[in-house]
Amino acid sequence: MYSVDTNVFMNWVIGLILGTGVLLVVATLFLSSVRGKRGRGFSYLSMLTALFVCFGLVVAALGFRGQASGSRPWHFFLDMKYQPRYSAQGESKLFADGRAMRLPVENTIPFDGTDYFADAGYHPGPTADFLKADQRYYLGIANPTAKETKDGVSVPKPPEWKAGQITEGYFVARVPDAAVSTAGGWGPMLQHGRQQFNVHCAACHGTSGKGGAGTDAYGIVGAYGLSVAPADVTGATYQSLPDGQLFHTITNGKGSMPGYGHQVKVQDRWAIVAYLRVLQYARAPVGMVDKK
Ligand code: HEC
Repeated sequence: MYSVDTNVFMNWVIGLILGTGVLLVVATLFLSSVRGKRGRGFSYLSMLTALFVCFGLVVAALGFRGQASGSRPWHFFLDMKYQPRYSAQGESKLFADGRAMRLPVENTIPFDGTDYFADAGYHPGPTADFLKADQRYYLGIANPTAKETKDGVSVPKPPEWKAGQITEGYFVARVPDAAVSTAGGWGPMLQHGRQQFNVHCAACHGTSGKGGAGTDAYGIVGAYGLSVAPADVTGATYQSLPDGQLFHTITNGKGSMPGYGHQVKVQDRWAIVAYLRVLQYARAPVGMVDKK
């Protein structure tokens, strides 16, 4: 294709103008050195020459077009184009290791509630934690196919309690052993569960777990007229729910209760479930499991 590089073209144009200017200067100098009467024509010539000299000075100061420049372009309206900030994967002299990007501080809980080092931290390969391989522990689910149809809707099958024995349904009936051993036994687990419950749940359900709304509210939030009262989680209905279902409710929410899976770690959720049972027991020492 036949084409003209505009930069080269402009250089030729400027070169031509400058060349004309040089000729004019020479002519003016020559004429001014010639003796005789200087007429109006000469002063026009001088003005024209001055114009070209000015143009020459501008070109000399700003340079020819078409040259690559490493310097910053002119920005008359800066807006927020230049800010003091670090670029991703950039360098920082502030930190000893020279990296501008920092790891989260210790014990940071990412928004999805997972353990940072288990998920994205340094480990040689994919871990069971990363894959969330144990669905009993991570999801509270014992048997994902255990469903039953109720009022035309497929719902999780509840566990069956027969002669002191439990046959699990959809959800795990008991807090998984993995959670208890990770916590270092039931003692530390319940203590931790109490602390976590008071942090995450008590605002609505009260430290006693009795929930309620308005003047009957045990929690602070419930006292402010919620459209749906926080449930009394110590009540008979919730005593008979399998542990996995309580875990599921904390993780994903239920009805007008929001889920807390993103901010309460898996291990902490199990501890809360364990502590919920303590609250229920404190409420109803006789007939823990309500058989309707
Ligand atoms: C923002 C207020 C609020 C917080 C915080 C809260 N809940 Fe709830 N919770 C509710 C409300 C409201 C209900 C009733 C939901 C409904 O019936 O629609 C409820 C219901 C429940 C239920 C009964 C669910 C069912 O099967 O019907 C359980 C169990 C429960 N909450 C446990 C917890 C636990 C454990 C925590 C702490 C991790 C917690 N809640 C934090 C407001 C809250």
